[in-house]
Amino acid sequence: MPSARTTKPAARTRPASKSKPATKTKPAAKAKSATKAKPAVRKPAAREPAAAPKRPAAKPAAPARAAARSPHGRVGPVRKVDVPVEDVRRFLEPGPIVLVSSSFEGETDIMTMGWHMVMGFEPSLVGCYIWNANHSHALIRRSRVCVINVPTVDLAETVVDIGNCSGRDTDKFEKFGLTPQPGVMVSAPLIAECVASFECRLADASLIDRYNLFVFEVVKGHAAPSAIKASPRTLHYRGDGEFMIAGETTRQWRRRFRPEML
Ligand SMILES: Cc1cc2nc3c(=O)[nH]c(=O)nc-3n(C[C@H](O)[C@H](O)[C@H](O)COP(=O)(O)O)c2cc1C
Repeated sequence: MPSARTTKPAARTRPASKSKPATKTKPAAKAKSATKAKPAVRKPAAREPAAAPKRPAAKPAAPARAAARSPHGRVGPVRKVDVPVEDVRRFLEPGPIVLVSSSFEGETDIMTMGWHMVMGFEPSLVGCYIWNANHSHALIRRSRVCVINVPTVDLAETVVDIGNCSGRDTDKFEKFGLTPQPGVMVSAPLIAECVASFECRLADASLIDRYNLFVFEVVKGHAAPSAIKASPRTLHYRGDGEFMIAGETTRQWRRRFRPEML
């Protein structure tokens, strides 16, 4: 109910003084009761014709995706062919720096990794040290899959930058202009700009808690034909911000191997 402050007390009509005859209700009062009977029928206001629906403002064109760059210019997607999984070790044994891509529930991430080792080639097993402070650790542990991608020296700056920021607050595919390519066997994306990509499933999780060591089985291998024919110019980390770049390849000591050791 309305409060005391808002409404004025009804004007008290002075009690009719005895001497004066009751004043007749004023003619206005009469007029009021006469007009009360028929309140004016208000015609609905002529409706303004409905305004034509506004065309949604044209979305600004999506900014061109940053392209992966190298000192020699843009690094584009690399065409790859299938690599038998037992041959994957030929790319990883030299210990190149790799980029590990992962995805879980729609989120993707990439991390730089130097600590990995070949543990077998049939099945094709790779052991990877993934620090539990990395965002990738959680994504890979939950999805149980990842892709190990081999970049060349053309992507050196991007490789270092990826390893110095976190997917917790950065979309690294977007930021570094890298192209995610769907995997054939796993849900994690390949990096199109790398010369080789190996689709992996977690084969053994028993060493993760103790050593942050993930044992993956490579279930599908892809590589650029040029990287199969000749060793790609990969990066090898020596620590303290220093890298070695793969260079000369030689087979001059091959005859010293026992055949079963090749
Ligand atoms: C050259 C280089 C090598 C690296 N090697 C590894 C490694 O073997 N294992 C690892 O857990 N982190 C390694 N890192 C660190 C991760 O790449 C880094 O912590 C990254 O920011 C993790 O990203 P995330 O949080 O998005 O997973 C390396 C970084 C660089 C630059």
